[in-house]
Amino acid sequence: MPAFSFSAPGKSILFGEHAVVYGFPAIAVPLSSISLKVTIQPLPVDNKIIIDNRDLHEELNLDTITKDNPYKHSIETIRDYLKIDHLPSMRIIISSKIPIGSGLGSSAAYSVAISTAITAFLGFKLNLEKINELAYEIEKFQHGNPSGIDNTVVTFKRPIYFRKNYAPEQIKIIEPMELIVADTGIKALTKDVVTQVKTKIEREPDQFTEIFQKIAGVTNIARQDIEMNNQHEVGKLMLENHYLLQQLGVSIPELDKLVDIAVKEGAYGAKLCGSGKGGNIVALIPPEKAEKIKSSLLNAGAVFCLSSTIEKRKKIN
Ligand code: PMV
Repeated sequence: MPAFSFSAPGKSILFGEHAVVYGFPAIAVPLSSISLKVTIQPLPVDNKIIIDNRDLHEELNLDTITKDNPYKHSIETIRDYLKIDHLPSMRIIISSKIPIGSGLGSSAAYSVAISTAITAFLGFKLNLEKINELAYEIEKFQHGNPSGIDNTVVTFKRPIYFRKNYAPEQIKIIEPMELIVADTGIKALTKDVVTQVKTKIEREPDQFTEIFQKIAGVTNIARQDIEMNNQHEVGKLMLENHYLLQQLGVSIPELDKLVDIAVKEGAYGAKLCGSGKGGNIVALIPPEKAEKIKSSLLNAGAVFCLSSTIEKRKKIN
């Protein structure tokens, strides 16, 4: 069997995080400037699967790790999905430029890349819908009850309008959109933040359903504005979405500060992205302001800043 490599991009949620868990729509985009790569190499020995994480300088033998280990779980999920009893010996090399635990899709990129790389290495030809289905199974282990937006945008590598249990719709981009993503450096687990939101909803269902409905309204208008390239309007809607996420209780002062600075320095708009309580903000910017906005965000304490362009693309479906 020849070696096989696959790279999956990061992602950012532009509108609708959290609400999407409860069936409301959301919009996500791939971040092509960061990616995670999985390479599978055949091993000339019997019964050995090695996981070689180049970033963590970690080399694990699948046989010696416990069942609750995410690597083991993902590999066994793929094996079961393919309905095969036994996997051949292989070395699985993982290397990533996507920061972990900051809402930029590192776990989704891992799930998609490992699913694609192993199935292709074994000679299976899975289409993107199947890869997405498999990656979602892997994501469930990491996140409990994920909406599926992360694995879907990473699998299809296109801006999407997403609703749980519906086929994703591709968003038409008629002019490039320039984003800056800035990291507070504060780590928060998606699973924990999603659980905190769930507890609040159970206590005050009416209040939180109203916030979700407002987020859905913003998301639907944003889709139209994105498709008409009204970037000023999209920016204003991002801010509105950020205020609604504040009301949901998932923002923190460090995120609010980065949002304020991005806007003060000329971004069309900005918001926290992903589960919140830490992690990143995403700002939609005029390209000529990129350097100024980035340096102000870094001066204000962002630990990492990246630019990413949402490219204009032809519709595929
Ligand atoms: O993985 P994160 O931090 O980008 O968050 C995903 C977005 C949530 O809506 C909070 C959870 C989900 O499953 O959609």
